[in-house]
Amino acid sequence: MQNEVHQLRCIGCSRIVVPQDLGGDFRCRECAELHEVIYPGFSGPRHARPNPGALRWLWRERRSSLEIPDRSGVWRFREMLPILRDEQHIVSLGEGNTPLYHLPQAARRLGLTNLWAKHQGMNPTGSFKDTGMTAALSVARELGFSCVACASTGNTSAAMAAYAARAGLRSLVLLPEGKIAWGKLAQAIDYGALTLQLHTDFDGCVKVLSEVVQRAPVYLLNSVNPYRIEGQKTPALEIAEHLQWEVPDHLIVPGGNLANSSALGKGFLEMKELGLTSRVPRISVVQAEGASPLVRAVREFGGERLEPVRAQTRASAIRIGNPASWRKAVRVLQQTGGWVEQVSEAEIALAKAEIGAEGIGCEPASAVTLAGLKKLVGQGKVSVNESVVLLLTGHTLKDSDYTIQFHRGELLTASEAAPLQAEIDVVRRNPIEMDASADQVLREVDRVAR
Ligand code: F0G
Repeated sequence: MQNEVHQLRCIGCSRIVVPQDLGGDFRCRECAELHEVIYPGFSGPRHARPNPGALRWLWRERRSSLEIPDRSGVWRFREMLPILRDEQHIVSLGEGNTPLYHLPQAARRLGLTNLWAKHQGMNPTGSFKDTGMTAALSVARELGFSCVACASTGNTSAAMAAYAARAGLRSLVLLPEGKIAWGKLAQAIDYGALTLQLHTDFDGCVKVLSEVVQRAPVYLLNSVNPYRIEGQKTPALEIAEHLQWEVPDHLIVPGGNLANSSALGKGFLEMKELGLTSRVPRISVVQAEGASPLVRAVREFGGERLEPVRAQTRASAIRIGNPASWRKAVRVLQQTGGWVEQVSEAEIALAKAEIGAEGIGCEPASAVTLAGLKKLVGQGKVSVNESVVLLLTGHTLKDSDYTIQFHRGELLTASEAAPLQAEIDVVRRNPIEMDASADQVLREVDRVAR
């Protein structure tokens, strides 16, 4: 590891440690808080810092290279995450370089002119986790670990299992029993992970795993691992690059374990520090109503304290009651002037169907962003001439059961759906069974056209 290039600093007591001194759970030995990676070179004298113009040119040039690190949307920006001693250790599946889609229908309905979706579901295993996994798993390989592990609501496990398989490492996955989407469980098994479903929820799995990593030489790949955050900050660079090194006015992110909001905030703040951009977007975090400990932490306790909750939402990826990175997320909210918001099950389901109807689609947890944006526009916090990017975190195929149940009218109870029934009726597309007859097909086409 390049100790002279990167250091690890505790976000609680600011103690700086060398990577070899980190415990297996990545928490500070003094105050039990998380660590963040810092690069003293980014804040040194201006003449000694990387040159923004040269970096922009280099990153763009790499897009036409055939080298594996250059083809990755994470390692293409490796000057922003100098965490490896040797690039030979990079484990990549060609992650990142994901699309930034315009959302014309949602923009029209909300009266916005500039609404975009950064689709992290278009990564190799179908979620944003790949960008963090390539970074942290490459570190695991460089450190010589032979086994990696995570607790997960599904996507982390899919990403970890895939990258571990590519690196020839064994992987251990702890999942909450019966509370994750089948597609994600299938991925972990398909990529060869030892997959254990524990009789508990996600927060219970985290607790068990933190004991396992203290007792066995297993490298922890949950987002308490600060190298995950380094990979997950790169979509911020891609967004800025896509917008000609301008930044949007708002970035809206779903909130579960709260690593993503922390990572994107770090990415935008570092870009500004290096002079790559001149400002940062407001970064707002949206949670499901039944799993919104951050919303309470901010509204009731001024961001000073988080009370864990028993999480409940059908957006299973964000069914998390005790988010590990909440302090990092609060700091990002404060540094960027963002808000927290919470949305109901019906609001999530409707927003997901609307994103689907744009020809894009996403998994339920991602759709909280559009549902949250509607609220922020309604409250006047986002105005019509401002630009907004929604971060879509997972692919629509991750949870097709949810999609089918919604369109069949089986997802929401009548009382949940009631406040939004008229809008739900517009987007619902229940598959219709009929005889193999052209007459019947044409009759239906006619009926729908009327
Ligand atoms: N969206 C999706 C699709 C997710 O899988 C997750 C988290 C989030 C949003 C929330 O992101 O935790 O950084 O705030 N999934 C985790 C997992 C926890 O285990 O796959 P966060």
